[in-house]
Amino acid sequence: MANDRPRVLSGIQPTSGSFHIGNYLGAVRQWVAMQETHDAFYMVVDLHALTLPQDPAQLRGNTRLAAAQLLATGLDPERCTLFVQSHVPEHTQLSWLMECLTGFGEASRMTQFKDKSSRQGADRTSVGLFTYPILQVADILLYQANRVPVGEDQRQHVELTRNLAERFNSRYGRTFTVPEPHILRETAKIFDLQDPAIKMSKSASSPKGIIDLLDDPKASAKKIKSAVTDTGTEIRFDPENKPGISNLLTIYGTLTDSAVADVEQKYEGKGYGALKTDLAEIVSEWAAPFRTRTQEYLDDPETLDSLLAKGAEKARAVAVETLAQAYDKVGLLPGKH
Ligand code: TYM
Repeated sequence: MANDRPRVLSGIQPTSGSFHIGNYLGAVRQWVAMQETHDAFYMVVDLHALTLPQDPAQLRGNTRLAAAQLLATGLDPERCTLFVQSHVPEHTQLSWLMECLTGFGEASRMTQFKDKSSRQGADRTSVGLFTYPILQVADILLYQANRVPVGEDQRQHVELTRNLAERFNSRYGRTFTVPEPHILRETAKIFDLQDPAIKMSKSASSPKGIIDLLDDPKASAKKIKSAVTDTGTEIRFDPENKPGISNLLTIYGTLTDSAVADVEQKYEGKGYGALKTDLAEIVSEWAAPFRTRTQEYLDDPETLDSLLAKGAEKARAVAVETLAQAYDKVGLLPGKH
């Protein structure tokens, strides 16, 4: 039955310890929903994490932590294939073919690379950071994914994926599915609580600007209550003139499954303080069971590891086939089987 469904694939880096609410609302929430309607492949992209320096023990710990958090949000290994990127070696193998198909200038135009490399300077920027989006292309194409649920910041990488899939198909004959980004307008970009002009991000935001899902609820409540808002009093969704309040309304509406207009109405005539206090409560109520479940998975690393091993096996069955086709199409001689 799963095979009749469209494919979905996405990934998250294990770099940050706790996921933040932008990761959840922008991407992972959609992953959970889509496992009911799609043949779903989700992974922790540990190879991508290596594009910046990582402490080995911490990376190992964060990879398990990321998997535990994904399970705690509701991913079900019976309904989706959950795995760790480095457990499927075909990712780096297909990535090489894709690198050979990508123009240097084309890769140089990737805005995430430009941002990250300008922040750290050329000497500290690895070649891996430069080719990062091409590994992401391979991640997606290996599974013949139809849709890729991500936040707005990943749109350009999905666009590159589409371009390379089309280029490969036209050069060598139909091989790859050309994927569509799945980006929900409302939650595509959750903003920093302290600076609602920039997205909430582990690398660019100050700790006060981020709601970490594994944070102590009191700390999150404090951050929400001191979120930057404009000097007015009216609670209205107006991202241009009221970016801070609009961001809080988005988070509120999504976590409570209510339309932003209804939230506006509920707070008509009330001050920002009331909205912030209630939102702090909502976040805390959402996060408490999430934290408990995450800890339960972490407390049993053997089960977690064996679950990830099974996921990798399922993923690999698909990846091996796609890679073999791609190798054949470009003219690599078949090896011994
Ligand atoms: P990563 O690990 O930075 O982020 C994981 C997901 O969270 C989304 N996101 C946000 N969405 C809304 N508002 C925000 N403030 C916000 N911050 C982060 C991201 O858009 C992402 O969907 N390159 C990817 C990982 C990756 C991948 C893939 C994704 C590797 N291979 C293949 C899709 C398909 C990344 O670094 O995401």
